Amino acid sequence: MPEYQTFEHDVLVIGAGGAGLRAAIEASAAGVSVGVVCKSLLGKAHTVMAEGGVAAALANVDERDNWKVHFADTMRGGQYLNNWRMAELHAKEAPDRVRELEAWGALFDRTKDGRILQRNFGGHKYPRLAHVGDRTGLEMIRTLQDHGVHRGIDVHMECTVITLLKDGDRVVGAFGYDRERGRFRLFKAKAVVLATGGIGRAYKITSNSWEYTGDGQALAYHAGAELMDMEFVQFHPTGMVWPPSVQGILVTEGVRGEGGVLQNKEGKRFMFDDIPELYKNQTADNPEEGWRYCQGDKEARRPPELLTRDHVARCIVREIKAGRGSAHGGVFLDISWIKEKIPKAAEHIKKKLPSMYHQFKQLADIDITQEPMEVGPTTHYIMGGVRVDGDTQMSTVPGLFAAGEVAAGLHGANRLGGNSLSDLLVFGQRAGKFAAQFAKEHGAGQINVAQLEQAAQHALEPFGRNETNGEGPYQIQHALQEMMQDLVGIVRKEDEMLRALEGLQKLRKRGGQVAVPGNREYNPGWHTALDLDNLLTVSEAIARAAVERKESRGAHFREDYPNKDAAAGKFNIVVRKGTDGSMQVRRQPLSEMPAELKQVVEDMK
Ligand code: FUM
Repeated sequence: MPEYQTFEHDVLVIGAGGAGLRAAIEASAAGVSVGVVCKSLLGKAHTVMAEGGVAAALANVDERDNWKVHFADTMRGGQYLNNWRMAELHAKEAPDRVRELEAWGALFDRTKDGRILQRNFGGHKYPRLAHVGDRTGLEMIRTLQDHGVHRGIDVHMECTVITLLKDGDRVVGAFGYDRERGRFRLFKAKAVVLATGGIGRAYKITSNSWEYTGDGQALAYHAGAELMDMEFVQFHPTGMVWPPSVQGILVTEGVRGEGGVLQNKEGKRFMFDDIPELYKNQTADNPEEGWRYCQGDKEARRPPELLTRDHVARCIVREIKAGRGSAHGGVFLDISWIKEKIPKAAEHIKKKLPSMYHQFKQLADIDITQEPMEVGPTTHYIMGGVRVDGDTQMSTVPGLFAAGEVAAGLHGANRLGGNSLSDLLVFGQRAGKFAAQFAKEHGAGQINVAQLEQAAQHALEPFGRNETNGEGPYQIQHALQEMMQDLVGIVRKEDEMLRALEGLQKLRKRGGQVAVPGNREYNPGWHTALDLDNLLTVSEAIARAAVERKESRGAHFREDYPNKDAAAGKFNIVVRKGTDGSMQVRRQPLSEMPAELKQVVEDMK
């Protein structure tokens, strides 16, 4: 076997955002050796893009909150396609995970009597988001990183995994390369946790940075695991739209939680025009009541800007399509108007939303304390991912675990804001615990040398082509992003998605001929070429699942099937790699919710 740099860990965690770090901490605490691979530098993760808070029923601001309300909100938000067991565990365990984080040094904003402060977010019945201004994800990463490093976890930075290694059915490690020198690395492990985050880079407009190319989903798929709910891609309603260089950057939902309102170019608060039946009794029908809610009036109903993300994003698209959008193709989000309501509003905004203030001042020359922001939907998150067991987070492949965004189940058809940060804490902890247990119960597996050599040879192929017999990776990536944005975006139609599937086949052919100049030393073109296969795999999974779901539900809206279909509400869509290498799609019936949880859902209605 050729000599590869080789590392051995009991548990290998791929991905170093919140879920990966939390898994690594737990596995290490269980007494096994842990390695963490991060594609980028440690601490640079999409976790920081969950800005407005972490959802946990601490009941610090409203004593009526408890795990049952959080559970019911999460299920309703997910349109009842959620894995109910995950939703139950999440709602029950999130408060402990947040308090634990505080004990590890996270500095949350405080209530007047010194408890963790919580704010309103879409779809959450009570103020539930523990936060640090609008930098919650950043503070969480900082805390987890410090804690993890002090536990002695080995960190492999700037390293990309290209394949998972198998011994029979079981996963026994991973193979990848370091970005700096381009050398291959072999990781032997008894258990592997995937925590690679999402797929945002499959779309043109996204809040995700370059790392998020669906690596974990694709690695799992090729290793024989199942992917579920891939049709449910979350378009966060508010990303920046101007200037073009910053299009897609997140504008936190915290702006709306603090009283920000959405308006079209006529100055109309269009969200009042369309309040879904499901939320009618929880939503204010006049501005005064909505504002009272934001000010903490427990009797008031929430403003329509705090409806679920899928709904708000669609209303924004409707305004833009009807010609009532802003000059640069968005709508207006205004927090400056609160100066009519409270003294020292500018100071208040800067204190509550410091990052938003600086982001708009520096990137768009807009002072959000004085004027509205221009915003539009941005691809932010995928609810779907690796199908896992709700308790252990193990996939259908023994030894392969997944946690955080890369895993499916908790969020169903639509995720509530803030539930991603609690998801990664709760299920990162569980994945780490059960991966460590698996590692203790199983010896090291055999590494298949032929698999390594095949992966290495495949990875180097782009260097063997040039522009006469191949094509650069950036055009292919760009074409893919344009196509997914246009044909499998917020509003979908069968014929467009079928066109996308044909287009994907053509792009796959082009991807098979990708050419890269230069050598293996820090070569972003080569890295992009290697990421392409993952982007194509997840895009195909999204498009196939979206064609199969012939209804509109949560984040999946079909113009040709604009209503919910009760029969389709009884299954998830699962994709897996067939024995002939093609993508197989099937409907997986939902498992029956226990009577006591059904009762919780009923009671909360
Ligand atoms: O809007 C936000 O701050 C994003 C939060 C989230 O995605 O959970």
